Amino acid sequence: MSYPRIASLKTAAAFRAHLERSGIALGFDEQLAPPAASPLAQPIEIGSVRVGNRFCILPMEGWDGTREGEPSELTRRRWRHFGISGAKLMWGGEAVAVRHDGRANPNQLMLTRKTGRAIASLRGELVASHRERFGSNADADLFIGLQLTHSGRFARPDAYDRPAPLAGAAHPLLDRRFPTAVRILTDEELDRLVDDFVAAAGLARDCGFQFVDVKACHGYLGHELLGARSRDGKYGGPLENRTRFMRRIIEGIRANVPGLQIVVRVSAFDTVPYRKRPDGVGEPEDSGAALKGCATETGFGIVETATRSIGETATPSIGETTTPSVAQPFRAAFGFGIVTHDDQLDSSLEEPRALLRMLEGLGVRWICVTGGSPYYNPHVQRPAMFPPLDGYEPPEDPLRGVARQIRATALLKQSFPNLVFVGSAYSYLQEWLPHVAQHVIRNGMADFVGLGRMVLAYPELPADVLAGTPLRRASICRTFSDCTTGPRLGLMSGCFPLDKFYAGRPEAVQIRDVRTRSAKSLALQVDDESAGRSASLSGERESAGSASLSGEGSLSQTEGSASLSGERGRT
Ligand SMILES: Cc1cc2nc3c(=O)[nH]c(=O)nc-3n(C[C@H](O)[C@H](O)[C@H](O)COP(=O)(O)O)c2cc1C
Ligand code: SF4
Repeated sequence: MSYPRIASLKTAAAFRAHLERSGIALGFDEQLAPPAASPLAQPIEIGSVRVGNRFCILPMEGWDGTREGEPSELTRRRWRHFGISGAKLMWGGEAVAVRHDGRANPNQLMLTRKTGRAIASLRGELVASHRERFGSNADADLFIGLQLTHSGRFARPDAYDRPAPLAGAAHPLLDRRFPTAVRILTDEELDRLVDDFVAAAGLARDCGFQFVDVKACHGYLGHELLGARSRDGKYGGPLENRTRFMRRIIEGIRANVPGLQIVVRVSAFDTVPYRKRPDGVGEPEDSGAALKGCATETGFGIVETATRSIGETATPSIGETTTPSVAQPFRAAFGFGIVTHDDQLDSSLEEPRALLRMLEGLGVRWICVTGGSPYYNPHVQRPAMFPPLDGYEPPEDPLRGVARQIRATALLKQSFPNLVFVGSAYSYLQEWLPHVAQHVIRNGMADFVGLGRMVLAYPELPADVLAGTPLRRASICRTFSDCTTGPRLGLMSGCFPLDKFYAGRPEAVQIRDVRTRSAKSLALQVDDESAGRSASLSGERESAGSASLSGEGSLSQTEGSASLSGERGRT
């Protein structure tokens, strides 16, 4: 299946025609407003907080801290880039573990008494770079927080290739992906973990952060517990119990850390786990056999039936895959806001809405909406043309994934007009990002546009948009996914294809080599019929640049870089 590259949709008419042809509902403004009148430049005041514009930097970790949990020079560079972006809302910087066994990798930052000073200096460097670029008072309308996490089932605190899962609940599909048994945290352990979150929040305030994000997304512990309907005891079963962990953390912070704001980033919808088909394309895992004997009562927020998978339309559009059905019991027993078809997105948000009602009742006003998990449905979480090493070819046009996150955010904003919403997954929009962003903010579909990968590739994009400066096309993120592949290999994250600083590092060569091998092994696996299909994927990648997986399979390293410069030249 091939989808047109965004860079090839050069005019508004071409972009619109593609969206219409594909049945993707995504609004955009053809003309960008002049800087002073841009909806994206309008400040917002919420209580005592003033934020200078509508761009938000989403949290992004770099797998580049020290073993002790302190930032390295690479971490500092990333945060300085956040500072020069021009965005005024910094949603958490990156995921910071509240204790060692909750680290997603041995280089994840960790907030303790020992590391507090170093993490405070990270914030200081972000503010200093912002001032240096935008003026000595420019930080008056910055709002900067820290994302607190425990990685739960995806913890790997001691070695990047040695999972040490501490799950919130059993999961028949995900559990079997682990080489050893998955341990479930006991109620008493969760009680103690609540205290660790509260203690870390106190340290974050002492570091100068204005808020903490109690992370509840992407399959990590806070998110997994929201879907722990198969768990017994006070943290599982009915929604009241499944939200207890988050509630207790928030109440604990309120009681013990006065003056600190609390926000929540949540995967507001999810899907069944995806896996790679023999031809490399993603498909929902068929869960029937694995789920025999599981509870089947219909859970709150679980969408019933649909034999089509997420991404498919009633009449699949040209180029869309048709994927098998997923077993009914899964939707009844697992997950939070599971959606199987976009027609059901609204109804799948019922349980997330109940969560937001609870959060609103607890005085939480700031919500960052995301979806899915990079571990089991990366095309949902961070839509991309090219998969990371452990991913799969996109089973849908990545624009559909972008539109889904934008729509979910807009639906929730409509239901909760008094909450402040940040949307995610805009990077795939590339040249059309400012146009969609302006449309979303102008129409009140979100309060902030969150940027992830784009600022790794092109940190100054928000500043350029706000100044009315044409985008630097050579710097635009093309969703090559090397920033995810690096960590999957135990390396740091970074934009290896487009950021010269990373492109010049030995790790960039390592990533290219592994991708080449992976593409060759995929080519060997496919049968004659799908080989034609794979060839078409390769061809598309070649035309998109060197970071292509299959395309690079036939290129030497030197040719690979030549093709990369070719891409730079073209864009
Ligand atoms: C390298 C990398 C690291 C990330 N780290 C985090 C993280 O620490 N916390 C988090 O909530 N999301 C994290 N994300 C997800 C992003 O915040 C964002 O949701 C995702 O990339 C989609 O937005 P985009 O299309 O603008 O990239 C990460 C994404 C990438 C690519
Ligand atoms: S490696 Fe760079 S171009 Fe590729 S997805 Fe990450 S930020 Fe974008």
